[in-house]
Amino acid sequence: ASFTFWGWQAVIVAAAISLPLGYTQGKEYAELEWPIDILIAIVWISYAIVFFGTIAQRKVKHIYVANWFYGAFILAVALLHIVNSAAIPAGYMKSYSAYAGVQDAMVQWWYGHNAVGFFLTAGFLGMMYYFVPKQAERPVYSYSLSIVHFWALIFTYMWAGPHHLHYTALPDWTQSLGMVFSLILLAPSWGGMINGIMTLSGAWHKLRTDPILRFLIVSLSFYGMSTFEGPMMAIKTVNALSHYTDWTVGHVHSGALGWVGLISMGSLYYMIPRLFGQKQMFSIKAIELHFWLATIGIVLYISALWISGVMEGLMWRAMNADGTLAYTFVESVKAKFPYYFTRLLGGALYLSGMLVMTWNVYKTAINGKATVVQIPQVVAHA
Ligand code: HEM
Ligand code: HEM
Repeated sequence: ASFTFWGWQAVIVAAAISLPLGYTQGKEYAELEWPIDILIAIVWISYAIVFFGTIAQRKVKHIYVANWFYGAFILAVALLHIVNSAAIPAGYMKSYSAYAGVQDAMVQWWYGHNAVGFFLTAGFLGMMYYFVPKQAERPVYSYSLSIVHFWALIFTYMWAGPHHLHYTALPDWTQSLGMVFSLILLAPSWGGMINGIMTLSGAWHKLRTDPILRFLIVSLSFYGMSTFEGPMMAIKTVNALSHYTDWTVGHVHSGALGWVGLISMGSLYYMIPRLFGQKQMFSIKAIELHFWLATIGIVLYISALWISGVMEGLMWRAMNADGTLAYTFVESVKAKFPYYFTRLLGGALYLSGMLVMTWNVYKTAINGKATVVQIPQVVAHA
């Protein structure tokens, strides 16, 4: 585990140095050059060994669904990274992709979309399946649904990549296939969201007093929202407007700040006091404040980008009666100023929430002492 930790830190440092120096493979979300790619692969495989080794040593026969999602996340990311980064070295910091032309684009977005599905979704769904029942003190709403959710999600995600390449040189039928699978993806995504939110059945009142639960549940709402928006944007005619605009960036952040961010914060608030032998965080009021700063921040951030995205999309396609463009590009940039200002405000609120959290974690840590967590006795075999 310490190799995984320090190895990953080394990857981050290598990325922070090599990217500003201009070393890049030019692949989105996979820019690092081949020596760093190899390091990532080794670190990731050691992570898989730690995870699956732990699972192999378990004392209960059953593997809880959270671990299924975690396992899928680790396996799929390894597969995506290794296939997409395949390249022929042409020097110690230079390489050429193993794929040519449109195939390279296709592999790139097979990777890119599954990075969303497994890096930004499956691992966090694993956290959701563990921490929502824990914090709500209720069993998961439907265990059967969680199994259907798992298989449907991992199957469908793998096919949706081409929605990132609408109206490109990619064969038309692959674009349409990607669009259809994206629409299907709404169902398993919402199955998971419903399973998480309905876990609160009989415990709804806790939302009023428990800000940690609120983090987790509002996160699920953002998950539901971005997985509704995504399939809509995957429809070709909608994508004709949304592509290249801030709408995409708004969608990204309703997933990233809303779903990924809030579920992580909720889970950390659950874990941190236990790590330091405390019953709860130093200040519950501060968690409450963080919740509101983050939520208002996200709402400002994404609604600003929705408006600015749709506006710039419409401005770019607007035509005069004689067929010339109604606006220059610079005019569309100028028109976005108020929305970018609102976005800045939203981002600043979100960041200030994180600072409140840092203070709260620091206070909790200095009040506590390291403690050995007892592994609960095995009570039942599934
Ligand atoms: C059912 C689920 C989803 C579908 C069908 C979907 C679909 C889409 C579509 C159509 C685009 C725009 C592609 C373009 O015009 O370039 C997009 C972009 C993006 N989505 Fe989603 N989305 C989904 C869920 C999510 C979630 C939950 C997240 C984050 C946690 C996310 C992160 C992203 C990112 C990062 C991009 C930008 C990719 C780029 O750099 O171009 N998506 N998505
Ligand atoms: C306060 C927090 C954040 C701020 C202010 C912020 C800001 C930004 C900005 C300015 C961009 C460039 C977008 C553009 O081209 O106009 C961006 C892109 C992006 N951010 Fe964030 N970000 C934040 C948090 C996050 C988090 C937590 C994640 C992931 C979990 C994330 C994922 C992304 C991705 C994937 C893109 C690329 C989107 C695309 O090219 O379509 N961001 N962000």
